[in-house]
Amino acid sequence: MKDSFGRKIEYLRLSVTDLCNYRCIYCMDEEGVEKKRHSDILSIEELTEIAEAAYSLGIRKIRLTGGEPLVRKGLITLCRNIRGISDDIELGITTNGSLLPNMAIDLKNAGVDRLNISLDTLNPKNFRIITRTGDQHQVIDGINAAIDAGFDNIKINTVLLGGINDSEVFDFIRLTEKIPVQVRFIELMPLGVVKNWDKNRFITVDLIEKYLRSAAVLKVDGVAKVYRLPNHRGTIGLIAPISNRFCASCNKIRITADGNLKSCLHSNSEISLRGLHGEDLINTIRQGILKKPLRHRLNEDCSATSRNMNEIGG
Ligand code: 5AD
Ligand code: SF4
Repeated sequence: MKDSFGRKIEYLRLSVTDLCNYRCIYCMDEEGVEKKRHSDILSIEELTEIAEAAYSLGIRKIRLTGGEPLVRKGLITLCRNIRGISDDIELGITTNGSLLPNMAIDLKNAGVDRLNISLDTLNPKNFRIITRTGDQHQVIDGINAAIDAGFDNIKINTVLLGGINDSEVFDFIRLTEKIPVQVRFIELMPLGVVKNWDKNRFITVDLIEKYLRSAAVLKVDGVAKVYRLPNHRGTIGLIAPISNRFCASCNKIRITADGNLKSCLHSNSEISLRGLHGEDLINTIRQGILKKPLRHRLNEDCSATSRNMNEIGG
């Protein structure tokens, strides 16, 4: 369906847990998150019902997010349920990759089409600084496990962190020479714990365009401008929520793990979907879509959301 500004809303990001086995510095506090009661989090049945309701309103792309979606019990069942709604849904997952070595094949068999794997650095020491608890080998193994399981459209999400990983841009670009993945550089957004960060941490994708002089722009894929360097197997995607605000073409809604519909990542307005079924659920999602704001104000100010990223899922 269309929102009140004529944007066709086709994409749902569904957070299945706010928990994570990592503690990335831009996502959550060092102590992690307080574990919510089981009943505060949407059940697999509720998540399935929400996906069905969204499908009936025209959603055709569903991405499961977190926290870290792969730590959620019942995830494979949920994927199967969503695949069961229709073959016409593109089902993706955004993951930190650490649990893929054991799960990639099951996810593929459950009908998952796409994986986006977060990897902000190729340097193991830096990896530890960024994720606080992570081991980079798990993620590299995870990427390989996903390739072996037959995922052929893998995207690597790399958030640009000034003074932390900006010196690695060229290494990431070089990675696409041999490996058929899309490395997506994402501008850091000032929300949650990042709101008070020094402005030097925020760098724009112009930095990368400098390295891409010899590359052809392949296409614009959703919010990403995609490049390929000559003789490279993979591609580079640039995602610029700050320097090139893409609100006018935003086709997304989000649902938090505790069951609140957010029609804009950066707005604090939310609608609870808990306890709703059937027509009530569909109508409430419809109302949420109709309230989607025209644009965010990140360039002028911070994000208005009071949540951290682990609760929203990116
Ligand atoms: N700005 C940009 N991207 C972010 N992510 C998490 N927090 C931020 C932020 N403040 C990314 C994660 C992951 C995806 C879900 O969103 O690195 O790849
Ligand atoms: Fe976990 Fe992703 Fe947040 Fe890192 S960014 S702590 S991997 S949810």
